[in-house]
Order: sequence, then C-alpha cells, then structure tokens
Amino acid sequence: MKKEKIIVTSALPYANGPIHLGHLSGAYLPADIFVRYKRLTNTDIIYVCGSDEHGVPITITAEKEKVTPQDIIDRYHGSNKAAFEKFGMSFDIYSRTSIPTHHATAKEFFKSYYEQGILSEKKTMQFFDEKAGMFLPDRYVEGTCPKCGFEEARSDECEKCGDLYDPSELINPKSKISGATPELKETSHWYFPLGKYQERLKEFITSADKKFNWKSNVVQYCKGWFNDGLKDRAVTRDLDWGVKVPLESSESKVLYVWFEAVLGYISATKELFKQRGNEDEWKEYWQGENTRYIAFIGKDNIVFHTIIFPAMLMAWNDASNEKYIMPENVPANEFLNFEGKKFSKSRGWGIDVEQFLEIFPPDSLRYTLAANLPENKDTDFFWKEFQAKNNSELADILGNFINRTFIFASKHFDEKVPARGELEKIDEDMLVQLADAPRKIGKLIERYKIKDAVFEMMSLARDGNKYFNDSEPWVSVKTNKERTATTVNICLQTISTLAEVFAPVIPFSSEKIFKMLNIKIADWNDSGKREFEVGHQLNKSEILFSKIEDKTIDEEIVKWSNPTNHEVEVEEEKLPESTFEDFLKVELKVAEIISAENVKKSKKLLKLQVKIGKTERQVVAGIAQSYEPENLVGKKVVMVANLKTAKLFGIESQGMILAIEDENGKLNIVEVASSLKSGLKVS
Ligand code: 2FM
Ligand code: ZN
Repeated sequence: MKKEKIIVTSALPYANGPIHLGHLSGAYLPADIFVRYKRLTNTDIIYVCGSDEHGVPITITAEKEKVTPQDIIDRYHGSNKAAFEKFGMSFDIYSRTSIPTHHATAKEFFKSYYEQGILSEKKTMQFFDEKAGMFLPDRYVEGTCPKCGFEEARSDECEKCGDLYDPSELINPKSKISGATPELKETSHWYFPLGKYQERLKEFITSADKKFNWKSNVVQYCKGWFNDGLKDRAVTRDLDWGVKVPLESSESKVLYVWFEAVLGYISATKELFKQRGNEDEWKEYWQGENTRYIAFIGKDNIVFHTIIFPAMLMAWNDASNEKYIMPENVPANEFLNFEGKKFSKSRGWGIDVEQFLEIFPPDSLRYTLAANLPENKDTDFFWKEFQAKNNSELADILGNFINRTFIFASKHFDEKVPARGELEKIDEDMLVQLADAPRKIGKLIERYKIKDAVFEMMSLARDGNKYFNDSEPWVSVKTNKERTATTVNICLQTISTLAEVFAPVIPFSSEKIFKMLNIKIADWNDSGKREFEVGHQLNKSEILFSKIEDKTIDEEIVKWSNPTNHEVEVEEEKLPESTFEDFLKVELKVAEIISAENVKKSKKLLKLQVKIGKTERQVVAGIAQSYEPENLVGKKVVMVANLKTAKLFGIESQGMILAIEDENGKLNIVEVASSLKSGLKVS
C-alpha cells in the first residue's frame, strides 16, 4: 500500500472584496492549523485554495465600481493573496479560477455529463430586465424568500434559510440593475439531475459520518435537504463572465459559478503540480488508492460541498476509470461576529485582515481567533477579549515563562543548557506531562476540535509556569545549584515542547523560539521527549509578545464601533435615470415646523403642522422613532410641497419632509439654516 496522502481545501473566496476576520475563523485558520500539524507528523499533505473569480458576485461589484470584472478579480486576488500570506496561511498554492487549466477542467466535467446524457436542456422562465436588455441570474434580483420571508433573497436561492426555489416563486422581485420589477422571460438551461443521486448521497453521508464522525450541524443540514427532496439544478447561466458552456448551441451562456468553483480545487491542484514540474502527480491526491480529502468551509457553503460536489464526482466516476475520491469530512464552522453583529461590508461593520495586521501582529490574531473558533455555535470577536488573550495569556503565561527561564539560563548557566541532577517527583511529573501533551493535542486536532487543542497548548504553558514557581530556582540557586540546573533544564525542554505544539497556531513566534533555543523543529511524535545535549548553546532571547495598552485598544474600539468613523461602502441602489424635467416636477420648499404631536396607536408617525411662507400645511411623517415631538418645533426643513395628498392612519398628509436614514436606521431630517425664510424654493 502506498503512503497515505491527504488533500485539504478551504473554500475559494470570491475575489470581489477583502478577507475579514469572519472568513479566517470559518474556513481558513482551522484548516491551516490542521495542515501545519499534519505536516509536522510527516504526512504527505497538500493544502489548496484560490480565488473564486466568476459569477454574479464579481460582475455586480464591477458594475458598481464602473470597472471591468477583470479589474476586480485582479485587484482582490492580489490583495487577498497578500493578506493571507501576512496572516501566515500556508497554502501550497493560492490559485484562481480564471486560469486556462480551470476553464479546461470545468468544461471537461460538463462535457462528460453531456456525453453521458445526464444533463437535460429545459426551457425555463428567468427574470429579464427590459431596460438593461439582459437576463438577471442569481444576485441580480432581490426579493422576499417564499420559505422564510427574508427580504434580501436572491432569484433562486435564499442566503438566510438556504432554500433553493424557482425564480417564479420569489415574492416582490426587484432588478439590482434598474430597480424595476423584472419580467419573467423564457430561456433554456442545462440541468443536472441532483435528485437521481439522492439515495447514493444519503448513503455516502451516512457512512462517512459513521466512519469519520461528521459534525452534527453538517449532518443535520444535509438531512434537511434530503427531507425536502433533491431537485434538478440548472448548471448554466445567461451571463457573459465565466466559463463558456462548451456547446455550440449554448455559446452565449456560462457555467453556473458554483458548478465550476468546486472544480477549482481540482484545477488548483493540477496547477500546483504543473508548477512543481510533475504534471500528473495531482491524480495521486484526487484519485490515488490511499488518499483522503478534507474540505474546510463556513456553514453557508455546506450544500455545495456535501451534496452538489459529491454528486458531480459520482457522475464523473460513473463514466470514467479515473475515479475521484469523495470528501472524507467537511468540518464546516459556524460564523464569527464582530462585537455582537454580523460582519457586513455594505454596513461598514467589521475589520479586514489587512487592516488588522497593520496594527497588530499575526500571531496575536491567530491565537485569539483559534481560541474562540465558531466550531459549534456562532462566536464573537471582541476587542477587549483580544487584548485579554494577548496580554494575559500570550504575554503573561507563555511569554513570561519563556522569558524567566531564559533569564535564569543566561545569568546562572552562561546561556548553556545545564545537566540534570537527580530527578524529584515534581520533575518526573513535568516530564510525563511533556511527553503526553503533543499526543493529546494532536488527537484533538485530528478530530477538528481545534479550540480545545489550543486550550491544552496554553494549559501546558500554565503548567510550565507552575513548575517553575513550585521549584523556586531563585531559592535553590543559593544553596543547591544542581537542583536549579535540573529545573532550568526541564524548563528549557518545556519551552521546546511548547514551541512545537504551538507551531500550528502561532508559527511566527514558534520560529523565533526555536531560534532562541538554537534548535530545529522536531517531528510531532518526538516532541515532548526530545532532550537537549548538556552544554547546548542558547541564543539571545527576545520579547515575544508585547502587551497591548488600554489606550490602544480603546482607540480601536472607538474607531471600529461606529461605522461612520471608517469607510462605509454603502451599496448604491440603482434607480432608473430621471431627466432634468423629471426633477423639475418636484417642488421642494423650506418649511418651518410649528407644532408636532404623536399619532395615536402608531409607533412611527408624527403629525406636524408646518408653515410654507404664508400657508399652513399638515404633514404626517414617519420620524417618531428618531425625534421627540417637542424637539422639532421651530426647525426649518426641506419639504416636497407638491406631493399628492394622502391619508395615513386616517390623517391627511399634504406633503413630505425629507430625511436621511443612517446606517443604524435613525432618520435625520434635512434641516436648513434658521435664517432662511420658510417658503423659499430649494433647487
Ligand atoms: O462563499 C464564497 O465565497 C464562495 N466563493 C465559496 C466557493 S467554495 C468552492 F466552491 F470553491
Ligand atoms: Zn429563506
């Protein structure tokens, strides 16, 4: 039997925006820790990732910024790759789906299905924007989910409840291009018969779960899909950005982004071995006789990795001698929130990796995130917790233990490892712990319990400190130098063990510790047991973790807790163009509020009396949750004066006050200088 190989993948992030801390906690840091650990156990493992560069997420971003999709992917592929590197992600390759190898691979899969007669071409009704003259796939349409009522659901998929439906079922659809209600128009697409694979998929998941103990959130999610019954899925789209459908009759269409993105894992592996000069070696990882595949993702990607991708591989395998392996495990994480709220680019909430690493070192972030991974439930990033983890754990426990040991070794043993004397119980106990810790930690990582593994790592550093304290080398050095030598020797062995077990989590610091110890990292299986040669020369020590001052963290809290204090990328809503004549039809005037009162039984409405020049008007305004009535009197505001009279809550409203809704939902009325007379025209 050949030596075992493992391929690990992390979800390919869309190259349409920066990577934030939530992404790291979901699919990247846990995978990196797993892979780094496995490499130390001398496993033949490769770790593959890259940018997902097709689909509507990319084209919408390009349209919003009025640049080409190519500009967008080049920008974000480059900056995300660099941010990952800075964070210490140890991908063997960070590829991209725009490369020719990927296009060829995706086309090859499509062709195989087509030639097997698996795919069916069906006429279907799709949203069409008359004004823009284009079909509106996926995120180009927003409406209310027919299943859960989420108001920002996409044309045939709800991000909130994960439901997939027919576009005709979407409630109140709106085009993202023109804002208009799109028409349903006939087009034809190629469908993959997911339903035909339901029983085999069920069997695959049940047996993989039994054998490899899948996370219960993942299994539950799949069961939900099976209960609803798998349906045929369209694998093509009417779009001109993506992998072209390799059929003459469908030249104007591209493959559905999810259909080809999952194949990006395979094409990235091909690319990796092409770069390494051994083009065919990728097959050993994807199709070999003793190879395993583990897919790290966030919970929003579960169906694509447990159902769609496996079904695609099954369909390929049915017709080929080159058979792909199925994922052995898909350890999906829940979400990381930022200070209690979901990361949101459009609301300016959260912090990007790049921004974070401009202020703090990567290992402080890696440790904090790893100690708080959303493995079983959503967790939060809190600045104060970050400061506490850095200061009270990395600096006060791990850093302090290393520092005090080095001070002793340099002051009393000339920066050399002293010989051990006769061992006492306290020493033997510590040595047992050292021999035990790597095995225990390794087992946890193997089971994707990374958070628990990180806890054990820091516990070992705590034990090191306790051993140092209980041994009291500062006392023994005056009376029994042999005892002190034993203590320092065992403390140095503890430090080398710590550097080894912590290496997957804080690789930059671990490397520094090895340099200080003047040794190289060992095989994981030897760590804890490795003894120094007596007289081994140590290098100068350095401070590994600086404390973060209250002032520094408080500044960050202020900076990032108010979305208006940093760049807010508010998604621009595209409305139909209006002409200057259209604008002139709206009569805007300065109005003075002369009285205001609550409208009975309404939480939102206020009844206002306003003066426009000499005339008085009554206006019902939806600003009760933003203003107390008494604070409005005397304010000069801008009002639409020629709005058709309407009745709200049975009260006549003869106009509209202009207001701006901020990112917290508060309405701010548009006020003008009090010196301006009411009745003046606004243009
Ligand atoms: O959610 C996302 O960012 C997707 N681009 C993930 C794709 S994972 C795989 F299919 F490539
Ligand atoms: Zn829904």
